[in-house]
Amino acid sequence: MNELTIIAPDDWHLHFRDGDMLKETVPATARCFRRAIVMPNLVPPVVNAQMAMEYKSRIEAAIPAEQNFTPLMTIYLTNETTKQDIIDAKKAGVIAAKLYPAGATTNSDAAVSQLDALNPVFEAMAEQDMLLLVHGEVTESHIDIFDREKVFIEQKLQKIVQDFPSLRVVLEHITTKDAVEFVAQSSDKIAATITPQHLLLNRNDLLVGGIRPHNFCLPVLKRNIHQQALQDAVVTGSSKFFLGTDSAPHEKHRKESACGCAGCYSAWSAIELYAHCFEELGIIDKLEGFASTHGPDFYGLPRNNDTVTLIKEAWKIPDEITLPNGSSIVPFFAGEKVSWKLKI
Ligand code: NCD
Ligand code: ZN
Repeated sequence: MNELTIIAPDDWHLHFRDGDMLKETVPATARCFRRAIVMPNLVPPVVNAQMAMEYKSRIEAAIPAEQNFTPLMTIYLTNETTKQDIIDAKKAGVIAAKLYPAGATTNSDAAVSQLDALNPVFEAMAEQDMLLLVHGEVTESHIDIFDREKVFIEQKLQKIVQDFPSLRVVLEHITTKDAVEFVAQSSDKIAATITPQHLLLNRNDLLVGGIRPHNFCLPVLKRNIHQQALQDAVVTGSSKFFLGTDSAPHEKHRKESACGCAGCYSAWSAIELYAHCFEELGIIDKLEGFASTHGPDFYGLPRNNDTVTLIKEAWKIPDEITLPNGSSIVPFFAGEKVSWKLKI
């Protein structure tokens, strides 16, 4: 097969950032995706309808004229979020609310420390049919970083899912066999996104032969049996698993640092990275479901009504990208070859 045409895909989890950075990130994603779920972890975080709509306008201003792209907005749950915030957000067109346990990841200091206190908010979300997007890691210092997803599922997520059976939940950027099993065994209200880095890499790619800061993201890459479980999950073709890149840009000097930031910037090669991986797994025929139909079906949104075409053509991901402010960023998989290219 030398050409593959699929329904146009969407990215169900990414970080656009704000300000000048939007001139870089929005065109990169709009190149290929028609919609994207935009994470609200700005500084300060996007916590209500008004902030989400203002952020949406800033994103829209950065969409290249020829591109058809719609940002899907989310709000950030904090200890102060109220039922009314959910009702107002839903009315304004916000699709989902994001749960970050406090301290879990980049800009999550404002996030939730007491999950139980959010029960009225989860109830309002279930009533309003607003999706809950979860960064599934506990943050207690005595829990090993490699176990944080598993422990979150056992101690927190299972209870939320039981207490709010009609709430649709996406466990985001899953990284473990435990998460795959939890999602596969849960009701059809529970789904998960999977990133290119967690399909393509394991923790050896982070730590063997020296620390590789550009492969550092959260949740952190796990051992190879977990990578294998994620690959097995996409091989099943189950509609519970779909594309979410977690593209999360950080300037080069902030990653190549004594305390480097977490996040991989994959937007310019996102669909190609997945195609490369699906081909290696012998399931290129399952790319369309994962990238273009499982996500909108779960979110209850229409599938896109146009297509994109990928060509079988090896190309090298650039070593660096220059940002609008003149500084540089090292994209995910920099200098590596991928075997498919989006036909523009
Ligand atoms: C994300 C970021 O940089 O905003 N980083 C990451 O490693 N994934 C935050 C997140 O999604 O956890
Ligand atoms: Zn993310």
